[in-house]
Amino acid sequence: MSRIVYVNGEFLAEEDAKISVFDRGFLFSDGVYEVSSVIRGKLIDNERHLARLARSLGELNIKAPGTDEEIIAIQKEVVARNNLDEGMLYLQVTRGAADRTFLQPKDIEPSMVMFTQELCIINCPDTDIGISIKTIPDIRWQRRDIKTVSLLAQSMAKQAANDAGANDAWMVEDGFVTEGSSNNAYIVTDDNTIVTRNISNSILSGITRRAVLELARQNNMKIEERPFTPEEAENAMEAFSTAATHPVMPIVKVNDRILSNGKPGPIAAKLVDLYRKMALESIGEAD
Ligand code: PDD
Repeated sequence: MSRIVYVNGEFLAEEDAKISVFDRGFLFSDGVYEVSSVIRGKLIDNERHLARLARSLGELNIKAPGTDEEIIAIQKEVVARNNLDEGMLYLQVTRGAADRTFLQPKDIEPSMVMFTQELCIINCPDTDIGISIKTIPDIRWQRRDIKTVSLLAQSMAKQAANDAGANDAWMVEDGFVTEGSSNNAYIVTDDNTIVTRNISNSILSGITRRAVLELARQNNMKIEERPFTPEEAENAMEAFSTAATHPVMPIVKVNDRILSNGKPGPIAAKLVDLYRKMALESIGEAD
């Protein structure tokens, strides 16, 4: 069945949803995006996603496509029109369409597109099994704090990891893991400390990262925010990643090293549970 896609003020069948070839998102990757998860038809942690969207737009001097209230109303409409129970809502804003120029045109209207995609977010089989990752050089630009649609390096990293038989890539710069191809990266050391890279321009400040660290703190888990090496990851007790699309994903293999006997570790498993409960509570649903 064809989805309903939102494009610049219109709700259209996906085959009719079109963007100009002069759109700067297409020509220059001059745009940003957000992915909010949807559980039981409700957006999760969406205010924080919209706050990050506003920050990304501000860093690139792209005009906001509307107020938060206007954007939320459209997001809810897209979810409703597609009867989405569980999955993601993708939202992209570009600077807009203009004659091709390296300067940033000032007086153009931003483009905004939204669509849904069905996905398993909670109670997913791969969360019970865990995934493997391979470390790949991080060849991205230096403003990874901005959630731009320029995702070629991440796509190349994930494909290279896949070609080498792993499920995902963790990217490495100057001897330290930055983050996953589309997620934040964590290890658990042998004294049960959760280690994840500190926030800076080197990584995206994940919305799920923030929620998971809040849950870990509330549950008296130890946290250290610092860079870690691929060797530390290979020798860790546990590893996991976080993203809106896979809130907490246990990792059971890093390069050639099997972690926690090849099964999701207890800390990752606990965080999977805590996140599910928190997300359901936030939308007034029981576990
Ligand atoms: N990606 N780091 C990178 C490079 C990401 O692309 C993402 C999310 C994250 C996690 O951020 P959050 O917890 O806010 O989802 C970290 C989304 C899911 C995507 O591109 O599909």
